[in-house]
Amino acid sequence: MSDTYILAIESSCDETAAAVVKNGREVLSNVISSQIALHTLYGGVVPEIASRKHIEKINQVIEEALSEAGMELNQMDAIGVTYGPGLVGALLVGVAEAKAISYATGIPLVGVHHIEGHVSANYIEQEELEPPFLCLIVSGGHTHLVIVKEYGEYEIIGRTHDDAAGEAYDKVARAIGLGYPGGPKVDKLSKEGNPSAIAFPRAQVEGCPYDFSFSGLKSAVLNYLHHAEQLGEEINRADVAASFQAAVVDVLVDKTLQAAKEYGIDKVALAGGVASNSALRAGMEVACKKAGKKLYFPSPIYCTDNAAMIGAAAYYEYKKGVRHGLDLNAVPNLKIGQR
Ligand code: KG4
Ligand code: ZN
Repeated sequence: MSDTYILAIESSCDETAAAVVKNGREVLSNVISSQIALHTLYGGVVPEIASRKHIEKINQVIEEALSEAGMELNQMDAIGVTYGPGLVGALLVGVAEAKAISYATGIPLVGVHHIEGHVSANYIEQEELEPPFLCLIVSGGHTHLVIVKEYGEYEIIGRTHDDAAGEAYDKVARAIGLGYPGGPKVDKLSKEGNPSAIAFPRAQVEGCPYDFSFSGLKSAVLNYLHHAEQLGEEINRADVAASFQAAVVDVLVDKTLQAAKEYGIDKVALAGGVASNSALRAGMEVACKKAGKKLYFPSPIYCTDNAAMIGAAAYYEYKKGVRHGLDLNAVPNLKIGQR
């Protein structure tokens, strides 16, 4: 069987990224131009600035991805591109670029769901991983517990009712003065703190055992900080970070393992930016070992936004015969499994 090469493009938020992926699992190049330093100045992603930066960088990033892979555009079998969910202006840059390349070269276009890309990041380094498996998706915009039934086929069994896990990290980080992006900073500071110092709530959603809610936890952290401030008490930021993180990780681990048991699934995978969190990985490892489940997670570079994961997802769509036309549009609120 001949090899399949995908040129993948990702521009849904604040990373302009391109990659060349062979047969869905072998990354020949993975170029990421991050705008984090720029958005840090404003304490979060500014959509208008993100779109402008994507336009400035996208051609260069694609050229680098091809040259690092040692390949020419005309050797690509498909162009995979994220078309949702995400910031509409940011998505449009990648989608317009991919359509232009497809139109000019005749190479087929495959639109990819960003979150399905995060899930597919697990295929890159785990050769033996194949569906079905349970996947906990924890990113800046999403928190989902899904059963990956087949490549590209998902059953959502849990979702957040308010903040996403990464969003909670970012908000708490801002409250304790760590700045944007908060997740990695809270992760680092937590290593110096006591996770049992403050008893923050582990929220359950009435009647929905696999759903999440993080806004109460975020409010509890803010209340704790205000209260201490009013009393003029010194705050141990490392203890706050570690205790907050323990509350998030406990809930994520408990619900994931409970679902794996109930649905009788023996493979558990993590996906999204928060999947690079050291406490979550450690907590999941212990819990999965105890329950006899096999745990998978991508390297940190494939957890946060990148185009290699989009190439992995695009490959399986391409193999199924999915092709998008030049009418492909950015869909900012695209649902998982929606085509
Ligand atoms: O998947 P991602 O790169 O973008 C979205 O699709 O949203 O996720 C970004 C999110 C941010 O909220 C960031 O704070 C969080 O992932 N994050 C982390 C860590 N690294 C990134 N959260 C906790 N611990 C980390 N080490
Ligand atoms: Zn993402």
